[in-house]
Amino acid sequence: MGKSSVPVALIYVTLAVLLLVLLSLAPSHPQRPHRRLKLRSSFSFSAPPASHDRRIPFDPIIADIERRREDREWERTHFFPHSGGGDSAPAMEAQPEWEDFIDAEDYINDEDRFNVTHRIIDLFPKIDVGPADGFVSSDELTQWNLKQAEKEVMHRTERDMELHDKNRDGFISFDEYEPPSWAHRFYDSNSTDDKVGWWKEDHFNASDVDENGLLNLTEFNDFLHPADSRNPKLMHWLCKEEIRERDKDRDGKLSFQEYFNGLFDSLRNYDEVYNAIDQSDTSVEAPAKKLFSQLDQDNDGLLSEDELLPVIGNLHPSEHYYAKQQADYVLTQRET
Ligand SMILES: *[C@@H]1O[C@H](CO)[C@@H](O)[C@H](O)[C@H]1NC(C)=O
Ligand SMILES: *[C@@H]1O[C@H](CO)[C@@H](O)[C@H](O)[C@H]1NC(C)=O
Ligand SMILES: *[C@@H]1O[C@H](CO)[C@@H](O)[C@H](O)[C@H]1NC(C)=O
Ligand SMILES: *[C@@H]1O[C@H](CO)[C@@H](O)[C@H](O)[C@H]1NC(C)=O
Repeated sequence: MGKSSVPVALIYVTLAVLLLVLLSLAPSHPQRPHRRLKLRSSFSFSAPPASHDRRIPFDPIIADIERRREDREWERTHFFPHSGGGDSAPAMEAQPEWEDFIDAEDYINDEDRFNVTHRIIDLFPKIDVGPADGFVSSDELTQWNLKQAEKEVMHRTERDMELHDKNRDGFISFDEYEPPSWAHRFYDSNSTDDKVGWWKEDHFNASDVDENGLLNLTEFNDFLHPADSRNPKLMHWLCKEEIRERDKDRDGKLSFQEYFNGLFDSLRNYDEVYNAIDQSDTSVEAPAKKLFSQLDQDNDGLLSEDELLPVIGNLHPSEHYYAKQQADYVLTQRET
């Protein structure tokens, strides 16, 4: 420890803040000053999570509690006949300690059992790995968050797979797949204008890397989370969808107006553009024009699917985006 013990203590405080913030950020009750650690409320399978309440679990113990709670909720909702009914939990190895608690929140609020300081000390060396220098950097925290987020996403994909894989062969065929109920409002079954390409055969085929007509778990996870996939076909498909939604004249490309009216405002994290603009140009369109000309590689005044690829991650933030946002947020909290 020696001379670095002071900053290390500071980092511990940071991580403690992080853990507390993540647990208790949920609706605050100003009339109730007594702070109680809160678990995130059960994830709703009936709608996609709104990006503003994306929170990545920080502590794997908490994540595990939340996941098991979610699973029980899921089983109640979807009632698998094979599982023998609502409450029959699968035979577990050892039941975790918190199972004894009627309400898991009682467990994490019981200071003798769940000591936040101890948790932080246990977790610190797992986060401080690149390099292990006694400091947690923004990158290390981002990587940690990302790992937790990916675990959670994959767990949900596994549950979704159970639901859709009707013949239980471990693969999803296009016929087996039914869009989630919340997606139905996007389609009018008779509509010919095909506004939304999500959940359709194009989307399915783009996810099917080995082109065997079936999605395995990895491919299905990519299908559900295309922005996080490393599948170029799927990235292309996403660009195509972005263009299709805004392509008023249906030429398959975006003109400046189509891009300005529909796409530019949806880009996130594009501060670089604002910093790069010529300060003498004060028009509202200046940043948009600047970016457009950067993207329009062949200078034909139109953006093609390929030309949209560099910003697709800004249109569809990946888990990495949220992981970094959360890491940065926490690191700024320390300074206050
Ligand atoms: C948590 O553990 C630390 C270190 O052992 C101890 O000083 C602290 O009092 C404990 N906190 C609670 C709330 O029990
Ligand atoms: C679709 O079109 C058919 C025939 O035109 C019509 O009978 C049916 O009600 C329509 N369905 C919807 C959901 O609009
Ligand atoms: C998807 O791929 C299958 C072959 O695996 C093909 O028959 C089908 O026409 C493709 N659909 C689309 C929309 O490209
Ligand atoms: C699914 O298939 C892809 C492509 O063949 C492969 O790279 C991946 O490892 C497979 N995933 C699983 C879970 O088998």
